[in-house]
Amino acid sequence: MAFARGGEALADGAGTPNENAAVARLRAINWDFPDAKTGYLTHSLHPYPAKFIPQIPNALIQELSSVGDTIADIFCGSGTTLVEALQLKRHAIGIDANPLATLISQAKTTALDEANFTALSAHQNACRRLVQSIDPHIGDLFHDGRPFQSSAWRPARQICEFWFEPHVVEELAELRQLTDAMPVEAAKRLCQAALSAIIVAVSKQDSDTRYVRRDKAVAPADTLRRYLSQLDAAAVAVRELTDLVEDRFSCQVFNLDVLDAPDTEAFDLVVTSPPYPNAYSYHLYHRTRLAWLGHDPDQFKRVEIGSHRKYSATGRNRATAETFQREFKQIFHWLRGRLRPRGHVCLVIGDSTLKGKRIDNASLVAAAGAAAGFRETARIDRAIAPTRKAFNPRIGKIKTEKLLILRKA
Ligand SMILES: C[S@@+](CC[C@H](N)C(=O)[O-])C[C@H]1O[C@@H](n2cnc3c(N)ncnc32)[C@H](O)[C@@H]1O
Repeated sequence: MAFARGGEALADGAGTPNENAAVARLRAINWDFPDAKTGYLTHSLHPYPAKFIPQIPNALIQELSSVGDTIADIFCGSGTTLVEALQLKRHAIGIDANPLATLISQAKTTALDEANFTALSAHQNACRRLVQSIDPHIGDLFHDGRPFQSSAWRPARQICEFWFEPHVVEELAELRQLTDAMPVEAAKRLCQAALSAIIVAVSKQDSDTRYVRRDKAVAPADTLRRYLSQLDAAAVAVRELTDLVEDRFSCQVFNLDVLDAPDTEAFDLVVTSPPYPNAYSYHLYHRTRLAWLGHDPDQFKRVEIGSHRKYSATGRNRATAETFQREFKQIFHWLRGRLRPRGHVCLVIGDSTLKGKRIDNASLVAAAGAAAGFRETARIDRAIAPTRKAFNPRIGKIKTEKLLILRKA
């Protein structure tokens, strides 16, 4: 016999009555959340492939943790879990190897003080003046008979010429310079995230999950206008977050490879949607955004788990289902040392198709967890939103994903 928090007696490995009741309540939820509103607080600040809807972490955090606990998302992406943890009065820890993910997560979870709001509003006014000065409708598109030109830094010429119209490059360079000049960090990060948010739309990249070129009609000044409206919405969202979140709850975000066993504080619950084989290639989708933010996409590419590149490689370098399971064994081994006793790990994960064969990733992950002493307490199917796109078109035939809940024994 062992005793859990609250003094309830339990057989080794079994759930306490409270834990069993929480799992029963979780099983009763309709995890498809068909009519849920997903864009509240800062959740719509930036698009992110395979971002999960906030209702998923919200329900898990409420059932499996208490006020004041620390919630970790070890593949935090755009920070959905972190925002929900804060609004539910928990501390949050986020880890992601993608520098864009950590920028977005920080921007979405940082309440601004008055100095930051003042700097933000001055920046918005400076951008408004810039829009007016080059707006074709106001008639001053060409200064001194020359197109608008910025003297500011921009990414390498091949990237600019291949992916952007020349006038878009000038406007992005000018905006980047204005955001970089901001005197306070939190507002600066918010502006950088807002700028990154519009980059795919004003580039020739087909979409957020297709790295192929197609022409789009982006008129002069469109980039500036888009940025301004993105930023106006971000300012409203962050004001809402600031009014809601108490500053006694902290959020720490780390730009690290989870396979390097990051030395974070301990946590009480993990809620995450991990990358899985062949589904997404974040280093590719985010290449143009990372270039404008001044990051090296290749550094992230080398450590990205599950990327299409690793699973479609030829010869001995090709990753397999075993590669993925080995990585998760390593992750669970690390988690054992960070997660409190009897803490839960919740993962939302779909299947993959590898060499034409369907791979049950939830089973691979559950077995990796079992090897490190994590016991499965629930596996629940949920429908994948029909609008969600993946790199591999064959993945489109897979209509459900699983919510897997494990508990540290
Ligand atoms: C499915 S996404 C998470 C999306 C997130 N739930 C959200 O709502 O935005 C998976 C994340 O895993 C990250 N990732 C991939 N390999 C990683 C690694 N080795 N270490 C840390 N993060 C990694 C990717 O950058 C991506 O952001």
